[in-house]
Amino acid sequence: MKGKDLLSVADLTSEDIYRLIQAAVDLKAEDRLSQLTGKVLALIFEKPSLRTRVSFEIAMRKLGGQVVYLSPSEVGLGKRESVPDVARVLSRYVDIIAARTFSHQTLETLADYSQVPVINALSDLEHPCQALTDLFTIYEKKGELQGLTLAFIGDGNNVAHSLMLATALTGVNFRIASPPGYSVKEEILHLAQEYAAESEILCTEDPNLAARGADVIYTDVWTSMGQEAEAKLRRKAFSGYQVNMDLLSLASEDAILMHPLPAHRGEEVSEDILDSPKSVVFEQAENRMHLEKAILNEMLGGLEIASYR
Ligand code: CP
Ligand code: NVA
Repeated sequence: MKGKDLLSVADLTSEDIYRLIQAAVDLKAEDRLSQLTGKVLALIFEKPSLRTRVSFEIAMRKLGGQVVYLSPSEVGLGKRESVPDVARVLSRYVDIIAARTFSHQTLETLADYSQVPVINALSDLEHPCQALTDLFTIYEKKGELQGLTLAFIGDGNNVAHSLMLATALTGVNFRIASPPGYSVKEEILHLAQEYAAESEILCTEDPNLAARGADVIYTDVWTSMGQEAEAKLRRKAFSGYQVNMDLLSLASEDAILMHPLPAHRGEEVSEDILDSPKSVVFEQAENRMHLEKAILNEMLGGLEIASYR
């Protein structure tokens, strides 16, 4: 992965994902290292963020590096300055860029013109750092990945796309239940089907069918950032898709509940279960930092995993 971009889970192999998870396990155990001393990460965000911004900043600092954050109002990507020029200029100052954009195309243009690697910190199409963290969290909780079943209940959005690809690459069965018109993009489904040599993928409109016997119940907001004008329409379309105790009771006895956060409590997820013992959402949030340490270390050519031990 050194020197390459991470715009999609499809930029990774199954081996890359397992290696990143192992590195995250090790880096979680050993918190402060200095292999990225002298390196600088630029964070360019067109949308708000709590987890991604803070976890990347702290991850970079814990590895000895430095961070520059450019907020939505400062960036003006494609408005104050063309996206290629922003990429050309930033490449002269920093060693790596993590960008959160509305359009995935903006991210691709940034990467095309940047001399340094670009990481997708969430676009309308994918959220790879979240999906990799989620697999790491599942691995921590279950001790394995292959053969498990993850049921995603809700919108076929950026988070669902990255999870679908990441589960397919690691042998996790993936089920998604979405209302008509809100399922995953065909192109992502086809790619995941190509990857899923040893696992199954199910797209359904029936949340109960998806949840039955699943090891992980996963949900995300019904209205993603940038879709606020559709919020009312979406609340109506998704009204039968709330993850609550009734749905969770269909899953495996030791199933865990996951959500990338921020959550709209009482909407896609009932208030009670986010704080129930089944919920691992705050560990997921913490794990963003450990997994991102692994990503930064590998992309910037830090120490080999074996050296952590
Ligand atoms: N899960 C996640 O990416 O959260 P933020 O939008 O707060 O970064
Ligand atoms: N699907 C959500 C994820 C936020 C982390 C969004 O794009 O807003």
